[in-house]
Amino acid sequence: MLFSEKPKTRLEDFFNRRDELKQFSTLVERSPVVVKGVRRIGKSSLIRVGLSLLEQPYIYLDLRGTAINKKISIRTIFELLTLSASETSSKSSRFVQTVKDVVREVSIASVFTVKLAQERTRNLLLELFRRLDKAAKAHAHKLVIVFDEAQTLRFATLDMRELLANVYDNMENITLVFAGSQIGVLKEFIGVEDPYSPFYGRYMAEVELKPFSRELSLEFLKQGFTELSLKPDERFLEKAVDELDGIVGWLTFFGLKVAERRRFSEKTIEEVLDIAATLERKEIEALPKSQKLVLSALSRLDNPRWSDIKRMSDSFAERKLNDTEVNRALKSLIRYSFIEKKGESYAITDPITKKAAVDLTPD
Ligand SMILES: Nc1ncnc2c1ncn2[C@@H]1O[C@H](COP(=O)(O)OP(=O)(O)O)[C@@H](O)[C@H]1O
Ligand SMILES: [Mg+2]
Repeated sequence: MLFSEKPKTRLEDFFNRRDELKQFSTLVERSPVVVKGVRRIGKSSLIRVGLSLLEQPYIYLDLRGTAINKKISIRTIFELLTLSASETSSKSSRFVQTVKDVVREVSIASVFTVKLAQERTRNLLLELFRRLDKAAKAHAHKLVIVFDEAQTLRFATLDMRELLANVYDNMENITLVFAGSQIGVLKEFIGVEDPYSPFYGRYMAEVELKPFSRELSLEFLKQGFTELSLKPDERFLEKAVDELDGIVGWLTFFGLKVAERRRFSEKTIEEVLDIAATLERKEIEALPKSQKLVLSALSRLDNPRWSDIKRMSDSFAERKLNDTEVNRALKSLIRYSFIEKKGESYAITDPITKKAAVDLTPD
């Protein structure tokens, strides 16, 4: 079923993306992989479908929303890893059992003290990785460990990179996969180009997901509606794709909502877009004020250059912003993948974010 909310896990529900899938599967057999792309572009689905097709066992950690007030304790990471490890996916039930045993032993060591010292928890985590590595070796298959929305780990109370770089360097039966929507932040977190990062100079392969083309987006909607025995007319679908671009998560959301209503008018398109924009607004309302101003300015301009954005932001702020303030806001918005810079101009990456930003009151 194409129109379903959760990340896809089965190939038959996963539309197109065959090249990326092949790329991911080939790479993950040999080296660590970074999967990047904006929100709702299908990263989690690609990884899950990709891994389900491989012989390799894997552990999947979803780090979305795990940091509270920009903090994630090392203890929480330990709990998340043990929890995810007990759900290891492997075609061999013997391996699954071994992993469960490993997790149980290491966890038992952790329950004696409710509030474990950080350093001790860190050592337990390392011990867990070591045992998993050993189990994978005995099983003669590399174990893939996925950190989805991995940039969240920068909020860990102890440097997780150091620990993961240790895994990278010394545990040859574990392959790490990092995925993230905040592309700039993820890149900084891993820091293969940063001499101060423990990952400096390490090799990581990359798979990047781009939006669907107009044709593919149309095909996706058609196929999705056909599965539900619905047949909206071509013009309706074209109008929807004009508004939604090629972000598959929004196309899916659109398909689901329209299918619920079973009405194919322009009004339905507007209604569904409004619901999506309301969801998105929460996300951008949490941004710092200068970023909201700049985003709001950007949402009203077509391919604006720096000076256009500055002028519009000034008028929203009813004062002259200083250049550094605007530059800093633009840089941050790029790091978090809200906007992109193409040549000399800037654009909001997601059409729904753009729609939500138009209604933003930057105060
Ligand atoms: N190739 C695809 N075919 C069908 N549905 C997809 C595809 N890629 C993503 N989706 C759907 O789009 C939404 C977002 O996908 P997800 O994998 O969670 O994206 P991301 O991890 O990049 O945020 C989900 O509803 C998912 O089911
Ligand atoms: Mg995801």
